[in-house]
Amino acid sequence: MAVTGAILVLFLVGHMAGNLKSFFGAETFNAYAEFLRTMGEPILPRRVLLTVVEVVLVAAVVLHMWSAISLARRAGKARPVKYAAKRKSQAGGYATHIMRWGGVTIVLFVVWHLLDLTFGVVNPAGWDGTPYERLAQGFDPSRWWVTLFYVVAVVMVGLHLRHGLWSAFQTLGLASSRSYRPLKAAAAVVSAVLVLGFLAVPVAVMIGVIK
Ligand code: HEM
Repeated sequence: MAVTGAILVLFLVGHMAGNLKSFFGAETFNAYAEFLRTMGEPILPRRVLLTVVEVVLVAAVVLHMWSAISLARRAGKARPVKYAAKRKSQAGGYATHIMRWGGVTIVLFVVWHLLDLTFGVVNPAGWDGTPYERLAQGFDPSRWWVTLFYVVAVVMVGLHLRHGLWSAFQTLGLASSRSYRPLKAAAAVVSAVLVLGFLAVPVAVMIGVIK
């Protein structure tokens, strides 16, 4: 869980930082998108390194989900008789729901997101548009519902990340009675920075700062 989670967190940090380039205008953002396709050249042909990154990302998502399912099964087998107490435990309440349903929502969001901003299938600028055009037209105020969907999904990503980071800290044995609060705060701050960084772009397009 931790290794695949770390790969996905690194991707999110890089992706958020890259998205913020849209504040510097169409040329800068499109040049960055072009760089993603040409990185590795001339040693590697166009798009090869990007495809490697994409394969690693897909593998990380699949293995992350597989680990989650097998860990849940192992936990179930270790405790075949349910606890008599009705009180929801950490493993049966908010955190489990947010991780399971949040995770599924994020996967569905990524499918929509790729159809929207990568392939242009559900985007007004379409496949022929530049990455910047897809961004600017995709979050047009008339398509407020798209932005709303992004806001919900990105908040889900933030909640997923906050709990995931906290779990990883515990797994690594970092959480003690003294470090409990600072580590929880660190997980919340990292997640909040990512959420705000991701939401800045759709919101900026909505209010006309990016056009
Ligand atoms: C809400 C703000 C977001 C914006 C504005 C945004 C923007 C973009 C854009 C413009 C692309 C296409 C890049 C290109 O064609 O070169 C892209 C690709 C992608 N985005 Fe996002 N994104 C956002 C959030 C997310 C989140 C939260 C995730 C994951 C949970 C995500 C996952 C991806 C993936 C997997 C790709 C495909 C990368 C590839 O081609 O290899 N995005 N995004």
